Amino acid sequence: RQQNPFLPLCSVLVVLSSVHCAHCRPAKSSGGAVQGSPGTEAGGRRGDSAAGLAEETLPSMRGDALRATSSLKRANNQGDRAPGSAKKHSRTSMADESWRLPNSVQQLAANMQEPPSQYLLREQELLGANLAGAEMPEPVPTIDLGLLSASNDPEEAAKLRSALQTWGFFQVSNHGMEASMMDSVFTASREFFQLPLEEKKKCSNLIDGKHFQVEGYGNDQVRTQDQRLDWSDRLHLRVEPEGGRNLDHWPTHPKSFRDDLHEYALKCKGIRDDILRAMPKILKLDADCLVNQFNSNAPTFARFNHFPPCPRPDLVLGIKPHADFPALTVLLMDNDVAGLQYLRDGTWYNVPAACDHTLLINIGLTMEIMTNGIFTGPMHRVVTNADKERISVAMFYGVDPEQEIGPMAHLLSEEQPAQYRKMKAKDLLVLHHEHYAGGRGPRIADTLKI
Ligand code: OGA
Ligand code: NI
Repeated sequence: RQQNPFLPLCSVLVVLSSVHCAHCRPAKSSGGAVQGSPGTEAGGRRGDSAAGLAEETLPSMRGDALRATSSLKRANNQGDRAPGSAKKHSRTSMADESWRLPNSVQQLAANMQEPPSQYLLREQELLGANLAGAEMPEPVPTIDLGLLSASNDPEEAAKLRSALQTWGFFQVSNHGMEASMMDSVFTASREFFQLPLEEKKKCSNLIDGKHFQVEGYGNDQVRTQDQRLDWSDRLHLRVEPEGGRNLDHWPTHPKSFRDDLHEYALKCKGIRDDILRAMPKILKLDADCLVNQFNSNAPTFARFNHFPPCPRPDLVLGIKPHADFPALTVLLMDNDVAGLQYLRDGTWYNVPAACDHTLLINIGLTMEIMTNGIFTGPMHRVVTNADKERISVAMFYGVDPEQEIGPMAHLLSEEQPAQYRKMKAKDLLVLHHEHYAGGRGPRIADTLKI
């Protein structure tokens, strides 16, 4: 099965080649284990010995069982590194891999009083602040895209420039997509997440119920034991190029889902192009220079995010801090429930819930590098809500994975030298995921500067 490396932030590309022992079966938890989705063996190579795990055994390795075995993990990991220790696998060494198995957050939310420890931010991650966020000092910049595209209206262009240079995100109104289409996609998403888990798992992101892949329904790959997990489930689908769609992962319920997504993607691409043509003009570049960066292999991924209510919104994030990787993100947000926050000058600001059928646009690392840092891809995160679920639909527009990403030549001069080194998109993506999987640290863009 083809694996396209262009996946949104929280998904993980690199398949870890961890050691498994086919003979060691996990000890059944003695009760109290959370019954989550079935085995999400994220760490093993396809076809490796982790296949020895019976699907029905894996759910018992969660929750309390994770905590119960935690003290054994370190000792065993050290053992694994010691020469000749490969033979020393015991029952506990298999159980040690249990931290790789994410739960269905929706099920956790339904069953749990307290989120498991993997979801709780640590003291130093909270940095003494709460997750409540500050009110934005001004309304979200809103660009009338129809006006900007049709007449290159100077006022709208100035707003766009200012939004990109201060926040790195903005809303678009008058974008040409019917409100009814946005409502349909949103309703179809909600109905999908409301389906029984067994039904959603027909679109699972786990091959054979065990091995992580980038597309499908589930959670992000758990790469390290200290990775904080996001309080969200998601459905992640490659939408473009159209020939690269893998319909195995596309829901058949609700019935309208596939058609809705297809129509939505077509319209969204038009909006993407309008934005990509408006941006160069404010840099005094040829209007097509950004659109031309997207060839027929340029991938578009749709990511449907579901944030169930969380009993500890003060300690748990829906999506950990990150900057998006692709060039542009088009986000369809919940009309009722806010949760998205952007970082600016060290403060996290709350973005209010969507209104008037606007779409939220933010630029990503790819665009930051192409514009030589004139526009920066903003850090953002999603907080959770104690009482209400939240849904969002992100469309991620990347460039061909084989393409070199570097600052556009027309922006460079002796006074304005290239700030970033050139790199193939697919190689940059690997760095990106390694950087943000831990959920800490500065923007990756700052570490890529020459
Ligand atoms: C994302 C993201 C924001 C949101 O999926 O990368 O940042 O509001 N989503 O769901
Ligand atoms: Ni994002």
